[in-house]
Amino acid sequence: MNEQRVLITAGAGGIGRAIAQAFADKGAKVFVCDIDVQGLEALKREVRGVQATLCNIAIRSDIEKMVGQAVKALGGLDVLVNNAGIAGPTAPVEQFNPDDWEKVVQVNLNGTFNVTRLAIPHLKKSPAGVIINMSSVAGRFGYPNRSVYSTTKWGLIGFTKTLAMELGGDGIRVNAILPGAVDGPRFQQVLEGRAKVSGRTLEEEAQAAMATQSIKHLVDPRHIADLAVFLASESGSSISGQMLPIDCDMQHT
Ligand SMILES: NC(=O)c1ccc[n+]([C@@H]2O[C@H](COP(=O)([O-])OP(=O)(O)OC[C@H]3O[C@@H](n4cnc5c(N)ncnc54)[C@H](O)[C@@H]3O)[C@@H](O)[C@H]2O)c1
Repeated sequence: MNEQRVLITAGAGGIGRAIAQAFADKGAKVFVCDIDVQGLEALKREVRGVQATLCNIAIRSDIEKMVGQAVKALGGLDVLVNNAGIAGPTAPVEQFNPDDWEKVVQVNLNGTFNVTRLAIPHLKKSPAGVIINMSSVAGRFGYPNRSVYSTTKWGLIGFTKTLAMELGGDGIRVNAILPGAVDGPRFQQVLEGRAKVSGRTLEEEAQAAMATQSIKHLVDPRHIADLAVFLASESGSSISGQMLPIDCDMQHT
């Protein structure tokens, strides 16, 4: 793990930040990008050795600059974690604003594609390149009123499986992590979105969410980070092209 060189997109908060912390704790060299200036400053202060820059994953020229900067700062690249992903609004398809649809596709799919295509030449030079794409339980089931989110998270599965086949010969492994209901502010927003559409209370929505799971708690982001570290490790060296749910056995969204 020492000196593993890791780039994490959208790592100033939430799951990405937990992943940055976990890789740093294992002695990896970590580079993070995000749109949140204050979050990036806090990350650099609080997680020793992490390097970071501002980059909007929705903007191709930002990504082109950022990947070069990251590779220079890290001295190469072994692990890319495509964590950036936005949720979009909660509404049925016929009422879905097409601008909102395009915004989500731009980050979740186009952004992930652009970071990846620019990172591949550097990962090919690594002795053990790894790509991890952050999908979701919404990339395993349909998700009423969250069509663009579900569509893009399923899209990342196709991207993961295709990349694994394209890059396996170069010794690069590619997997997707599919978190379920994760502890943090975002899950609260999900419940609020559901309550708005259903007319139920937040408490009722929280209970309904737990009813879909065999294990009745929210996922700890640190456990998602541990899974990412494992997938990038020597112990994960036979795992590629896989979708790994971490969702307390959710049966539907
Ligand atoms: N939280 C969950 O319940 C959950 C569940 C399943 C999958 N996921 C996926 O995990 C990933 C991280 O989710 P999270 O809940 O930690 O996210 P979050 O909403 O907490 O945001 C994490 C970071 O993304 C940054 N960000 C947002 N838009 C960006 C952009 N255009 N460019 C660069 N950075 C940007 C934010 O500033 C923030 O620091 C996403 O791909 C999400 O879809 C999350």
